[in-house]
Amino acid sequence: MDWGLKNRLSRILKPDTGHTVMLAIDHGYFLGPISKLEKPGETVAPLLDHADALMLARGVVRNSIPSDMDTPMVLRVSGGRSILAGENLSDEGLATAMDDAVRLNASAVALSVFVGTENERQTILNLAKLVDEGMRYGMPVLGVTAVGKELEKRDARYLSLCCRMCAEFGASFVKTYFCEEFEKVAGSCPVPVVIAGGPQMDTELDVLNMCREAIDKGAVGVDMGRNIWQNEHPVAMISAVRAVVHEGKSGAEAHDLYQSIKSDG
Ligand code: 5RP
Repeated sequence: MDWGLKNRLSRILKPDTGHTVMLAIDHGYFLGPISKLEKPGETVAPLLDHADALMLARGVVRNSIPSDMDTPMVLRVSGGRSILAGENLSDEGLATAMDDAVRLNASAVALSVFVGTENERQTILNLAKLVDEGMRYGMPVLGVTAVGKELEKRDARYLSLCCRMCAEFGASFVKTYFCEEFEKVAGSCPVPVVIAGGPQMDTELDVLNMCREAIDKGAVGVDMGRNIWQNEHPVAMISAVRAVVHEGKSGAEAHDLYQSIKSDG
């Protein structure tokens, strides 16, 4: 791996633990202003110091993020359809040029691949092209195994296929979903895997237990959005997730931390 690419990646996957807590706020790229992300700058301001990296699109970077912040950014560069596109949601192209990612001082770029949809070929070739450009610039690529609205697709057989394909085409790391037998997903993917959170879960403890199990089964961290910033106490929540990911806390121990920060705040 080239020095620049390794150096960028080490800003995201923290060298002391090898783990990461990425904060995803890229949802507007196809969902528009979803709840609690109507003003991304306000949502993210109290969380910036608690995130190892931010995942977001370039318009939000330029309009909502202070340029003197030093949280590394993973720039969402794929897109092209909205939630109104139904089954065509997977019809994505590359929507941001690599030189703009460099201009924004991104530490990685991210794109979605939609395996098993009618657009799988197109999105896999998007990945291949992005990796070629990433190699030219020393820019790591995060492959996102997107399922669109079909959340039921999230099983180990399907996600293993998607993650492995992202790695085979050269992604430096992969974002996927947690699932039963997650060890098979992480264990058959030769590059680091982070998990998304998905829609808000019933309880904070559910989220923290999921993070614990994911790490124990081979994830290097999370790239989480709604279960953090849609929580009533987002700073308490991201702190609790950090305790699991970086400090080896159990879900229950992290939940105690959540409760204590929540009561202090
Ligand atoms: C959308 C994404 C999101 O960043 C991802 O789903 C993470 O957010 P959440 O934890 O809210 O699911 O990649 O395609």
